[in-house]
Amino acid sequence: MSQKVLFIPSKQAPFEVGTAEIHKPGHGEILIKVQAIGLNPIEWKQHAFGLLIDSYPAIVGQDAAGVVEEVGAGVTNFVKGDRVAARGAFNSNAHATYQQYMLAPADLSAKLPSNISFEEAASLPTGVDTATVGLFGPMDAKLISPVETLGAYKGQSILIIGGSGSVGAYAIQLARLSGFTTIIATASARHEAYLKSLGATHVIDRNLPEAEVTQAVANISKGIKVVFDTITEENTQKIGWAVLASGGHMCTTHVTSIKPQEGDSRKAKWVLSVPTMPPNRPVCSAMWAQFTKWLEDGSIRPNKVEVIPGGLEGIAAGLDRLKTDQVSGVKLVVTL
Ligand SMILES: NC(=O)c1ccc[n+]([C@@H]2O[C@H](COP(=O)([O-])OP(=O)(O)OC[C@H]3O[C@@H](n4cnc5c(N)ncnc54)[C@H](OP(=O)(O)O)[C@@H]3O)[C@@H](O)[C@H]2O)c1
Repeated sequence: MSQKVLFIPSKQAPFEVGTAEIHKPGHGEILIKVQAIGLNPIEWKQHAFGLLIDSYPAIVGQDAAGVVEEVGAGVTNFVKGDRVAARGAFNSNAHATYQQYMLAPADLSAKLPSNISFEEAASLPTGVDTATVGLFGPMDAKLISPVETLGAYKGQSILIIGGSGSVGAYAIQLARLSGFTTIIATASARHEAYLKSLGATHVIDRNLPEAEVTQAVANISKGIKVVFDTITEENTQKIGWAVLASGGHMCTTHVTSIKPQEGDSRKAKWVLSVPTMPPNRPVCSAMWAQFTKWLEDGSIRPNKVEVIPGGLEGIAAGLDRLKTDQVSGVKLVVTL
């Protein structure tokens, strides 16, 4: 059986729609009939620079939601017909999301409650995995996950740079479930009410000069032990590092340019949001097992989404908008 896919024929060649085989789920995997695909900044970078692509033609895509079509051996948490959100993998055409049918690991997928649409669910996988790995991963900030203990960080402060982005909006919500009393986010000022509805206690206009943002954060809290810089530009890293308290940890979403001086007890580290990496897998799979309940009871709200037209054929235009910074406070999604 074949299916419709969006692929990159060769390095930097324009995306093309074509056909490919539908794969059988292996042990521990599910085959998903994709209904909605979320677009991520990494995907335009993969297209433009060939990042994380070893061979062509390549199918990419990290975020999807759909219906379980078939379960592989050993899968006990899904049956055919379940609605799910699932993460794509790098360097595997069978496991990418820009296609009608994809494979995904069952333990890193979430069953969707009826109050969550496929479009909303397609905003979840990468954003939630990245926030989870950064905050709770054993190679990153190593916080106690709210899956284990809700509210472990009462009385403490956290800074989330880029709170209106997909990763930032999930990091704010997981910080709220972790009990942080003070959750400071930077974003454009128009997103203040939205971010406060997710759990931010303070929102600082990210368009202010760097020194003013830094001062505003320092005025709110002098004891910030965790910074999540979801943007990781030169100035956002400087802001995060300037307010990070001793012994603190700063997560970055790209290679960090911060070089701590000898004797500095603080760390800055690039989060690698790959849930299948053995150190990350337990914390991510525990998170996904919990997510159905949190989505159902409203503890976690999906990103706001903007559905763009064209299905697979509409993806290239959406990626151009991400590339040119024309996306603010929403996740772009296509439906199939
Ligand atoms: N390392 C990893 O494994 C990993 C995983 C996921 C993502 N990433 C990377 O992390 C970054 C964020 O991903 P995402 O999916 O969250 O992106 P996104 O949703 O597309 O981010 C868009 C948001 O970025 C905000 N923004 C841009 N410049 C900012 C600044 N200087 N200060 C504060 N906010 C700023 C905008 O805020 P306003 O509209 O409010 O101005 C906008 O809402 C991307 O570069 C992505 O490639 C890395």
